Amino acid sequence: MTETLHPVYLDCDTGIDDALALGHLLASPRADLVGVGTVHGNIDAAGAAENTLRLLALAGRQDVPVAVGAGTPLAGGFSGGAVAVHGADGIGGVRASLPDAVASPGPEDTGDAVDLLIRLSHEYAGELQILAIGPLTNLAHALVRDPTLVDRIAGVTVMGGAALVPGNARPAAEANIWHDPEAAQATVAASWPVTLVPLDTTMEHTLDETYRRRLAEAASPYARACGEMLDVYLNFYETVVLGRRAAALHDPLAAAIMLGEVALLDAPRVHVEVDCTDGPSRGSTVCDLRSQRKAPGDVPGATVRVVLETAPGYVDLLTELLESL
Ligand code: RIB
Ligand code: CA
Repeated sequence: MTETLHPVYLDCDTGIDDALALGHLLASPRADLVGVGTVHGNIDAAGAAENTLRLLALAGRQDVPVAVGAGTPLAGGFSGGAVAVHGADGIGGVRASLPDAVASPGPEDTGDAVDLLIRLSHEYAGELQILAIGPLTNLAHALVRDPTLVDRIAGVTVMGGAALVPGNARPAAEANIWHDPEAAQATVAASWPVTLVPLDTTMEHTLDETYRRRLAEAASPYARACGEMLDVYLNFYETVVLGRRAAALHDPLAAAIMLGEVALLDAPRVHVEVDCTDGPSRGSTVCDLRSQRKAPGDVPGATVRVVLETAPGYVDLLTELLESL
């Protein structure tokens, strides 16, 4: 059976789990990665582009255009990155061992990430999927620069938020939303279909030392690089988050959900608002799940599908995909 091929624009803050998501997109028969935009978050936007270009070179995919996006959120400044989680170079100290970043090909002036996204939305009008796995600043800028963008996008999948579970960057806020709540609110309020992949489900999919070692010993150079960078990620999760040597597969799980490669067990379409106040719940994603009490299902007029639960076993699919690169 031929797989449906989705043209995908990836917006990322290439950190370690972003690198896993990139590998998933490169390996999946369902994805045609047509462009990458980078954004502040785990590391600065230019560093994320450097990491992305080097990883694409490692996979032999220098054909994919990469454009640097927003270095700061709509309100405030760059957070300084997540060195404790992703390392100083954003990918667990692996950058220096990767091939040099090859200048991004494509039109004379790839422009910035927003220019690239808008260009791709015309080139793949009605089919382009956006996978956003960092703060949503580029998407917010794109909505202002071209309000008709929403009419040409097939879907927006966002790794971000926390519906019924605690946050990670703050008690009530997940990192991607925390780093730019205003941009997240603009994204969920726009008239395009959004699938939100929050910590509620991403924290249930972890990769442990057994899988990390399997990647580190793989024949695929990309898989080996992932295995090496995951050591830093597992160290953080073991000491700070889980108390066991395993780490959550936030970004790659969002890629799999976008491509329909992981079964959704509980994913109602409901109204969502992002808290943009300056209080203790700033950056929280307020998902109106009251409707689910009487009968689980979609709320008429709501545009955000919140993925609360997915089928287990994604780590095996991800590992096989990375080993195939
Ligand atoms: O909260 C997890 C998210 O924040 C992931 O996208 C991770 O890469 C960081 O950006
Ligand atoms: Ca990310």
